[in-house]
Amino acid sequence: MYAIGVDIGGTKIAAGLVDEAGVILAQAKRSTVAGDAAEIDRAVADLYRELSAGHEVHALGVAAAGFISSDRATALFGANIAWRDYPLRDRIASLVGDPDLRVVVENDANAAGWAEFRFGAGRDVDDMLLLTVGTGLGGALVVGGQLVRGAWGVAAEVGHVRVVPEGHLCGCGLRGCWEQYASGSALVREARQAAAADPSRAARLLELAGGEAALVSGPSVTVAAQEGDPLAVELLAELGRWIGAGSASVAALLDPALVVVGGGVGAAGDLLLQPAREAFLAQLSGRGFRPEARIELAAAGNDAGIVGAADLARL
Ligand code: BGC
Ligand code: NA
Ligand code: ZN
Repeated sequence: MYAIGVDIGGTKIAAGLVDEAGVILAQAKRSTVAGDAAEIDRAVADLYRELSAGHEVHALGVAAAGFISSDRATALFGANIAWRDYPLRDRIASLVGDPDLRVVVENDANAAGWAEFRFGAGRDVDDMLLLTVGTGLGGALVVGGQLVRGAWGVAAEVGHVRVVPEGHLCGCGLRGCWEQYASGSALVREARQAAAADPSRAARLLELAGGEAALVSGPSVTVAAQEGDPLAVELLAELGRWIGAGSASVAALLDPALVVVGGGVGAAGDLLLQPAREAFLAQLSGRGFRPEARIELAAAGNDAGIVGAADLARL
């Protein structure tokens, strides 16, 4: 039996036709306009039609980058997408127009975390933290084999834990949130700033951006770092250190066996993970007298949200 999973992120919508083992059989994509909720609904419905054609599909799981109500229907709030108490499930269901189709909305990181727990890096543990490092920083917590949803569905919004008093302004309206330091957006902000401040040090990044500091992109930082460019390596290391240090705070609260890192910057691999592991251990209280969680990449990479959304819609 097939389900369709759709992952609505800050800059793109990715969808897949997924089987019961979590394997993606076909995939499609659209770009997102963060300010236009109705356009997102239409894109999701389009992707559903495109991918379901010729297949028997019983469920549509939508992973959405925002606070999702516990009845899995309403996008209560988006820090990077313009959802405010938005009836996402019903809008999509009415555009699709099939009364027999089961439509379910989940938080994007929760969906990715579920996929990794069921089929991926977290298959062998009962307690894990997943972080999706993209436009924002998403979190999923599996505790004792259960996805933690909280009283109202918005547990594990780790991106909005305050890590710097009076720090950078966040899309949620607060200051100093973890996602302002540990996200793809933070990486790009720091890279552009470095390129503007010190063009000679940023020569390779500027070259990849056609000479414009404001056009430096996240993937180009990874490319440059893989070539050994010292600034790019340091930018990824800094991002990794924010990921690791914050994960140590999560360990103080929940003691996960594993931290899984997903999202686009996962492509940087050990350039990101090594500094994350070091910072995690440096900030782990009681170190030396407690077991230490592993930090690993998401097995499904950036597709974990699609797989998890499809699986959660089937349950
Ligand atoms: C949102 C989360 C989302 C994360 C990753 C955060 O800004 O608050 O709901 O999971 O970004 O997309
Ligand atoms: Na979450
Ligand atoms: Zn925030």
